[in-house]
Amino acid sequence: MRDFVNEIKNCQNLAELEKIRLEIFGKKGILATGFAKLKELDESAKKDFAESLNRQRDELGALLEAKKDELNELEILAKMKQDAVDISLFNEPLQTGAIHPVMDVMDRIIEYFVSQNFSLETGPLVEDDFHNFEALNLPKYHPARDMQDTFYLKDSRLLRTHTSPVQIRKMLSSKPPIRMIAPGSVFRRDFDVTHTPMFHQVEGLVVEQGDSVSFANLKSMLENFLKYMFGDVKVRFRPSFFPFTEPSAEVDISCIFCHGEGCRVCKHTTWLEVLGCGVVDPNVFKAVGYKDVSGYAFGLGVERFAMLLHRVPDLRSLFEGDLRLLEQFR
Ligand code: PHE
Repeated sequence: MRDFVNEIKNCQNLAELEKIRLEIFGKKGILATGFAKLKELDESAKKDFAESLNRQRDELGALLEAKKDELNELEILAKMKQDAVDISLFNEPLQTGAIHPVMDVMDRIIEYFVSQNFSLETGPLVEDDFHNFEALNLPKYHPARDMQDTFYLKDSRLLRTHTSPVQIRKMLSSKPPIRMIAPGSVFRRDFDVTHTPMFHQVEGLVVEQGDSVSFANLKSMLENFLKYMFGDVKVRFRPSFFPFTEPSAEVDISCIFCHGEGCRVCKHTTWLEVLGCGVVDPNVFKAVGYKDVSGYAFGLGVERFAMLLHRVPDLRSLFEGDLRLLEQFR
């Protein structure tokens, strides 16, 4: 007679246990064969044997159940152990990255204008003369082209020197009303403490049918924007010139560093120049085939904003990828 009690106790896995169960309870198992033998026995032996069979059935059945629970549990534990992710693996804190200060300021500017219902437009970095100059009232040989030292490609295309060509593309592809900003990189042949050959601008353009858009609209909109960006500053509009706007203005804020004392950043003027703007020149509307419309436009340098907001003394340092600078913005 096999020692099923010990076989069950020592069983290591569910498959093995199932084999044992079949050897006891299966069609050809010891119980079935035992009960089949009963009829060959005489009355008294039959009774004893039947009793022993019943006892074995109950005892072994209970043992099997208990063992099955135990093995099931062990299998789940083993699987959990295998699937577990060891979250203690990195015991040194990971270095986290940071948003680059220029992109951070760009995001804040975009967020503001999106909240004011401006749409977000983009255009190509490689532009042609028409979109970058001609349609913006900068005909060939116009002296104002010298304001922007241009990178030309061999095929006479160029790297856009400002985001203003996106105005032209937007006006050529849709009708007024337009209320857009165009953030993006621009390129000029310039390199010193306050200039890098690639930098970022955000362009703005508002156009309405009729004469409803005025310089006053532009003024109040920009004043609100600059107060949002720089806090409680004074805003000053200074007459200036851009070929694509008339009248044009350069916009200054009161110096956020010296608050009227005069310092090196404001070159002792107590004012900081932050953007250019104006009422859209009729020649620009003519170039895109718009009639009886009015509009204003503005353009700002994102690095200029970032320099002022983060007190970065040398603009070039923003593009050197030096971790010691970038880590300060974590
Ligand atoms: N495009 C001008 C520049 O790059 C900025 C500007 C845009 C000025 C729109 C007026 C209106 O200097």
